[in-house]
Amino acid sequence: MVETLLFNEKNCTEESITVGGKCIKYRSYENINYIENPVAKEHQILNIYIPVSYYEEKEINGYQKNTAPIFMPNQVGGYMPGHIVKPGLDQSGKINATFVALAKGMVVVSPGVRGRHMQNEEGKYIGIAPAAIVDLKAVVRYLRYNKDRLPAGDVEKIISNGTSAGGALSALLGASGNHSDYESYLEELGAAKARDDIFAASCYCPITNLENADSAYEWEFQDDFECNIERRQATKDGKDFTLVSVKELMSDIQKNYSKEIKKDFPQYLNSLDLKNSNGNVFSLVTEREGSFIDYLKEKIIESGQKELNITDHIECDAFTIERNIITDVDLNAFIKFRTRKKSVPAFDGINNITPENELFGTEDCEYAHFTRFAADNDPNRKGYLADKKRVGIMNPMEYIHSESDKALYYRIRHGAMDRDTSLAISAMLALGLSMNNVKVDYQLPWGISHAGDYDIDELFGWIESITK
Ligand code: DHB
Repeated sequence: MVETLLFNEKNCTEESITVGGKCIKYRSYENINYIENPVAKEHQILNIYIPVSYYEEKEINGYQKNTAPIFMPNQVGGYMPGHIVKPGLDQSGKINATFVALAKGMVVVSPGVRGRHMQNEEGKYIGIAPAAIVDLKAVVRYLRYNKDRLPAGDVEKIISNGTSAGGALSALLGASGNHSDYESYLEELGAAKARDDIFAASCYCPITNLENADSAYEWEFQDDFECNIERRQATKDGKDFTLVSVKELMSDIQKNYSKEIKKDFPQYLNSLDLKNSNGNVFSLVTEREGSFIDYLKEKIIESGQKELNITDHIECDAFTIERNIITDVDLNAFIKFRTRKKSVPAFDGINNITPENELFGTEDCEYAHFTRFAADNDPNRKGYLADKKRVGIMNPMEYIHSESDKALYYRIRHGAMDRDTSLAISAMLALGLSMNNVKVDYQLPWGISHAGDYDIDELFGWIESITK
């Protein structure tokens, strides 16, 4: 046993919080080091919250202390460091998922994980890929290691949750359980010797599969050369930011980039050999023909129909509607309706300064390319082309067919109006996982742009359905 990694039941405070008229009481174990050799000591820590009822041997929502699922939301956004969250309100003033999880009788583990831009005292970048996923795995290992010391929570029912980059990490955590690729990193950190697979993964708009995200983006938004970029603008008092939408037309060079980049997508998609349970393949015959197109259209129609059933009216002329039933969607018209958000390339910037370029930087170099196209077209040639293995280790698609121990359940949500990445990215993830005996609940909720945790009732309904 490693003394420093043993959970100490005595280090807790009893807390209560009332939000929206609902009071929850819980014990809070804070700032627990989950690895032996942290490189960011203040950051590689976690909090555990346990409903007080479990210390009184009471049941909550059908769960007992030893059957309560462990909800593990990561707060990573933009591949920046993910901070610990406490039960309460989120940034927009809504009750957060941590509060709801506790109210529903779950144990919550809130991890602090490293992210891009973090530097140590010597100026080395310590949050570059694969730091965040290694930290999350170390957290899971810590929980399993302390399985018999935790006062409540079933370590075989860990459910991770995240949005955007955090959704990508949730997807990766679910796909890569116990894979040996991460072993040396975990060993170096002094992670607990235990398994790191999880039970289920909830992924909102996962910004994932980064090395193929540029080609998917250009394939989706092809011929739409107007970017509707969201810029952060300081408020008058300079204390806050608002998002303003700015239209920008692409230059001729950018249009040519787009045409070049999109060419890779059909070949990549077909190389995945995605199939459904009847053995039917999801492929592209041309850029806009093939069973993969039919699948996307089906998901878009499903999304629109759900909305139509509720509202009786839908503001989108891409649909053919007969007696309130959507019978078809014009995919190009729908994509135009979504509008393009990012410039080209969307992820691996030619000028090498996107969040993803920073994610793949090295200890000593802030930015790196991760696609051959951007590296070849960077006039300054600054930054390296990141090591292929280090790029792959961040991509759940690399693990869905591997010998990893995958989460049994996934919930993937990609808002129908979310253009931070192509719809193809989440669709390929959902299809690939389904082929590997994972039960995937995948939807493109209508009217939703880049966001997460917007359907808390449904999220926890899903968790209850898979844990009871
Ligand atoms: C996030 C959004 C992006 O568009 C991106 O490229 C990377 C991360 C995010 O919100 O986490």
